[in-house]
Amino acid sequence: MKVIKKVRDLQTMLCKLQLTPVGFVPTMGALHNGHISLVESALKQCSIVVVSIYVNPTQFNDKNDLKNYPRTLEKDLSLLDKVLRERDIVFTPDDKDIYPEEDIRVFNFGNLNNVMEALHRPGHFNGVGQVVSRLFDIVKPDVAFFGMKDFQQLAVIKELVRQTKRKVKVVGNPIIRENDGLAMSSRNTLLDPEIRRNAPIIYKTISTASAMISENDIPSIISFVEKSINIIPGFKVEYFEIVDDTELIPVNLRAEMKPGKRYFGCIAVQAGKIRLIDNIEFGLV
Ligand code: PAJ
Repeated sequence: MKVIKKVRDLQTMLCKLQLTPVGFVPTMGALHNGHISLVESALKQCSIVVVSIYVNPTQFNDKNDLKNYPRTLEKDLSLLDKVLRERDIVFTPDDKDIYPEEDIRVFNFGNLNNVMEALHRPGHFNGVGQVVSRLFDIVKPDVAFFGMKDFQQLAVIKELVRQTKRKVKVVGNPIIRENDGLAMSSRNTLLDPEIRRNAPIIYKTISTASAMISENDIPSIISFVEKSINIIPGFKVEYFEIVDDTELIPVNLRAEMKPGKRYFGCIAVQAGKIRLIDNIEFGLV
């Protein structure tokens, strides 16, 4: 694999290689098997794969979160070196490479701006929109790979592509979990040991909740989820919503769920000092 830092060098290399389709996996580093699963999908589908590692300041609404975000570039590169082919590229730009000038663009993602993460992390998706559109402009991928772990982010990216009429196919990949069920996340390494031990309660609870839908209505499922998690010391549910997978409009009653549509229960939990998100499909039976 090649490690490239400068936009011009990356574009020169892609131009020289002339390989298509170009697959792209944007990341913020501190890589784990969730990221690697995206890279593996890209390798299967694309002649050349670009993985970017860039901690994007504009998507952090919390300065401390940005400061404490794990940065493990050497480890990330050796992990990628095990899976990438010689021709593939790791792109590791600096702030000035991505934002030569301040990015003042404001995106309107419609309802996606008014629910769940958007309400709890103001400005977050605008920052994601800024960096992903900039990265798309630089890499010009044919296919881009994202995780369903960040369910709302995936919907935002699809909307961004639709609005900007880009010719990139957006692929969403399933959530990769630790053996105990906790969704893999770069932030998991920041959890206090006691909180980490209890963190599987999140997936365990939403799994039970998704099985409850056949016999219970949504308000009682939401209250079950909140009670089961809030009882654990240090854990507090920020939101739990059951939403459709395109506009992410919350459904309040089972009768509102339409056959043929897919629904997901999405949760954000404050776990000690760290905020964790997860989701699971709620199938109608
Ligand atoms: P980051 O959190 O590093 O995640 C990069 C990609 O990996 C995202 O598409 C995310 O959904 C996916 N991912 C994370 N954990 C996963 C898991 N357990 N299973 C499957 N996929 C997982 O998301 C970002 O970075 C940034 O917002 C970014 C899109 C790079 C823009 O800065």
